[in-house]
Formats: sequence, C-alpha cells, structure tokens
Amino acid sequence: MKLFLDTGNLKEIEALVPLGIIDGVTTNPSLMAKEGGDARAIIKAICNVVQGPVSAEVVATQWEAMVTEGRDLAAIDPHVVVKVPFTREGVRATKVLASEGIRVNVTLIFSATQALIAAKVGAAYVSPFVGRLDDIASDGMGLIRQIVDIFEAHHFSTEVLVASVRGPMHIVEAARMGADVCTCPASVVEACFKHPLTDIGLEKFLKDWEKAQAGRA
Ligand code: G3P
Repeated sequence: MKLFLDTGNLKEIEALVPLGIIDGVTTNPSLMAKEGGDARAIIKAICNVVQGPVSAEVVATQWEAMVTEGRDLAAIDPHVVVKVPFTREGVRATKVLASEGIRVNVTLIFSATQALIAAKVGAAYVSPFVGRLDDIASDGMGLIRQIVDIFEAHHFSTEVLVASVRGPMHIVEAARMGADVCTCPASVVEACFKHPLTDIGLEKFLKDWEKAQAGRA
C-alpha cells in the first residue's frame, strides 16, 4: 500500500520524504489556504521534493471551468493529479480530463455508489473520507471494504485512496483491506514511529553494551 502525505506544508514533506516511505502527496483548498503564498509555486515545489503523484484540487464548480482549471493545474508538473469534488459537474469534468490523459482524483466520496460512478468515468483515484464518516458515527472503514470489493469484482483500475485519516489504526485497516493508498497528516505518520517497548528496548541494549565496554577497560 502506498503512503501519501495529506498536507500542503513543504517543511512537513521535506522532513519525511528522505525516509523513503512517502509515495505522494494530497492537498485540498483548506490545506493550501493554511499555507498562504502562491499555490502554483507551492504545488511545483512539492512535486520537486516528492517525485510522485501530487493531488491539487480545483475550486471551480461548473464542469467547463473545472476542465479549464484542471488542465491548468496539470500543466504545473507531470506529477500533478487533478483533484475534483464528486458532484454531477465534477463527474462530467472527470470524464473530459481523463479522456485527455489527465489523472483525476475524485474527492469527497462518502458512498460506494459515488466511488463506482467516479471509476466509470475514468478516475485514477477515488478519495473516500473515513474520518469524517467516523465523526458522524458511520463506518468509514466499512466503506473502504465495499469499494475495494466492487473495484476488484469489476476489475476497475481506479485506485482506492483512503483519506481523512485520523490515526495509525486507519492505516492498519486500510492495508489489511487492500486499499491502494492511504493519505495521512504528518502527525499520523510520526505516531507510527512511536512505541514505548522500542524505546525501552533500545535503552537497555545501549546500557548493556556500555557496561560490557566499561568492564573490559
Ligand atoms: O484531503 C482530504 C482529506 O484527507 C481531508 O481530511 O481531516 O479534513 O477530514 P480531514
């Protein structure tokens, strides 16, 4: 399963990419708004660092304008994937962009039928929001299971990109279910590095080694 960072923050990306575990980045208008500055320049800089798929979202809501904006975003860098919200207009725009060879990530997916429709028009990725479903006492990961089953049964090449991730257990469940990608805030990736038994174990190894060295001196 690929691991993407869900952020528009270049510093967070630069800190984690050298570890070799980050396959791509997803952004959205809320994340980009937090960064300020020139959004196109930030997307270009992110592409240069990550050298993998970078989702940049359109803010137009009418299909012709979405297509124009999508083409413009795709022209920033070959790594850009155009993110389009799941609406009737977004589905129509996805069909056009996909037919031009532009990769589209259909976002704000909250049901299996939405994912199926997005796959039918050639989306490269669908982004179901698991955390926001969990927030309203719905089964976010249950939706991932449904979408993975449907795409497998019908041999869709559309990738299931688990989004709105809240913690490491979302990553574990996504991997077990066979999701293609999990996009996470940097804080969730950092949490995966923490285990008290690793810390205690390493401390003991180093102390034992030091003791033995001191005994030989
Ligand atoms: O990028 C889309 C998605 O991951 C947003 O997550 O935390 O705002 O629900 P969140």
